[in-house]
Parts: sequence; structure tokens; C-alpha cells
Amino acid sequence: MEQAIVVEQLVKRYGKLTAVDGISFAVPRGTIFGLLGRNGAGKTTTLECCIGIGQPASGSVRVLGLDPTRPRDLARLRPRIGVQLQTTSLPEKANVREVLELYAAYYGIRTQPQAMAARVGLDGKLDRQVGQMSGGEQQRLALALALQHDPEVLFLDEPSAGMDAFGRRILFAEVERLRAAGKTIVLTTHYIEEAERLSDRICMIQRGRIVAQATAAELVAQFGGDATVSIVADGFAPAALDGLGTWTQTGGQWNLATRGEPGLALAAIVTQANAMGAKIASLDLHRPTLEDAFVAITGETLAETE
Ligand SMILES: Nc1ncnc2c1ncn2[C@@H]1O[C@H](COP(=O)(O)OP(=O)(O)OP(=O)(O)O)[C@@H](O)[C@H]1O
Ligand SMILES: [Mg+2]
Repeated sequence: MEQAIVVEQLVKRYGKLTAVDGISFAVPRGTIFGLLGRNGAGKTTTLECCIGIGQPASGSVRVLGLDPTRPRDLARLRPRIGVQLQTTSLPEKANVREVLELYAAYYGIRTQPQAMAARVGLDGKLDRQVGQMSGGEQQRLALALALQHDPEVLFLDEPSAGMDAFGRRILFAEVERLRAAGKTIVLTTHYIEEAERLSDRICMIQRGRIVAQATAAELVAQFGGDATVSIVADGFAPAALDGLGTWTQTGGQWNLATRGEPGLALAAIVTQANAMGAKIASLDLHRPTLEDAFVAITGETLAETE
């Protein structure tokens, strides 16, 4: 498979701090790669190295076969990549139309401000000054600027930061559309749901290092742990259900940890409870999630702040 991005043993330091500590990954063309990690993990720094911001201490980066640390390569790369950074500084006094035109001129393309604004949910806001837009609106404009020149590779740094539910839906739909169009996307996020929903492959980063890298399903299967089924039912005992997995009891609650399909286990448990004449007070099924896998891998939680 042809790789759009290849990062090898990347190291980036800020003074004594090693922000990126030997990161390697490859992103096949037409796929979406999610960098997932907590604040300060090194996501933005990794992305910046991919787009030619700052010099790495060591290691190498190739984007579309070009080396972003070399000015000549970077000049050839720029029109082929789109970037939405975590902090984009846009001219405060310019309005949406002017900013779209400014960027279009930079890339030497014709802009269709109306269509572009509509695409990111900024319809009717073409005359709004950047400085008077909300954080989420500015973020949408930044997305429009990353898309406008139809780049082959997109780098989206916390693209949904500050966006409301509507903004996030637009973003998700846009990412799906870009994937369908064969674009390659690297996105960073600390939202589990976003990483899981959008990424073909997820790379978990902790303190500048990659701690796991696979598809969401693989990460969950490998690190998410067992599924559990819990039942509280007077007169219930899992006598004939040993084959389902491991049973423990806490108070009046029976808990089954199973590697098998928890839905089938749940059905067998209900059947048994009924056969025993046990009245079910509560019944709960928990499938392992990517969050469970993240906790197991990093020993940290990714507190959802949504
Ligand atoms: N310009 C800089 N100068 C000094 N230290 C920096 C600089 N930029 C980042 N760092 C440090 O490097 C580490 C990695 O930062 P980075 O911005 O890459 O993290 P991140 O994973 O993007 O975090 P967040 O989720 O908060 O965006 C952090 O400890 C940060 O404080
Ligand atoms: Mg960041």
C-alpha cells in the first residue's frame, strides 16, 4: 500500500523537555489516522513536524515523499496539504469572505466563498469579522481554509475543539466525505468517540511515545478486557453457567466476566433465572470500549469534557 506519510524515530525537544520521544508511524493513502492522547502528550508537536514547523532533533518525516524540513520540499508540499491547527491566528479585522479570498490567492485558486462557507456551516456569515466570531465559528473557518484548495493530505489538530454538536456533525460528515474522496487525514483528539468514529487506525500517545497503534476494534479486543454481565435476582445462582466465563459475587449481585459474546451469555443467564423462578431486579451488560483499552494501556483516564 502506498504510504502518504512516513514518520520514523521522530524526536523533538523544547529545551530540556522531550516533547516527542521516538515516534514512528505510517499512514497509507486514503486512510484516516487518529493521534489520541491527553493534554501535553505530544500530538500537536508531532503534527507540526509533519508540516514543517520547527526542526526535529532527530528522525525523519516524509509527506507525499517530500521532506518538510527541507525548504524546497516544503514549498512543493504546501499546496498539496491542508492544515487546521489548534491555534490558528487569522486576521481579526478581515471578514470570512476576505480570509477565504486571501487563502485562495495564496494557493492560486479561485474561491467560491458562498459554497465554502455553507460547507462548514457558516452560511450567511461571509461578512462577519474574524475577531467577532465565536471560537467554534473560527474553528469552522479554519476547517474551510484547510479544505478550500482541495489538498491530498489534511492535518487536523483537535478539529472539533470548541465546536457545538452541530459543528461536530458537520466536521464528522466532512471527514467522511474526504475519506470517500480518497484523501489522507491525520487528526489529533482527546475525544475517544471522535478517534473511534473517524479513524481507520488509532495511535495512542503518552508522554511523547506511542503506546499502542492499531484499529479501534483491535485495541478494544486486545486491551479492553472482558465483557461483563451483572445480574441481581433473588434466588439466582449461576450453577450451570460456569462455561460462560468467570463468576464473582458482590453483595447480592452476580458478575460474569466473559471473553465470549456477552449477548449470548445474557440470554443464557435470563433463561436460567427464569428456570429457577428467580425474579430479576437488575441486569446489566458492559462491552469493553476504547476508553477501557486506553485506561489499560496508559494507566490514565481520558476524562470526557463534553
Ligand atoms: N513551543 C513550545 N515550547 C516549549 N514547550 C512546548 C512548546 N510546545 C509544546 N511544548 C511542550 O511539549 C509537550 C507536548 O506538547 P503538545 O502541544 O505537542 O501536546 P498535545 O498532545 O498537543 O497536547 P494538547 O492535547 O494539550 O493539545 C508539552 O509538555 C508542552 O508543554
Ligand atoms: Mg495539541
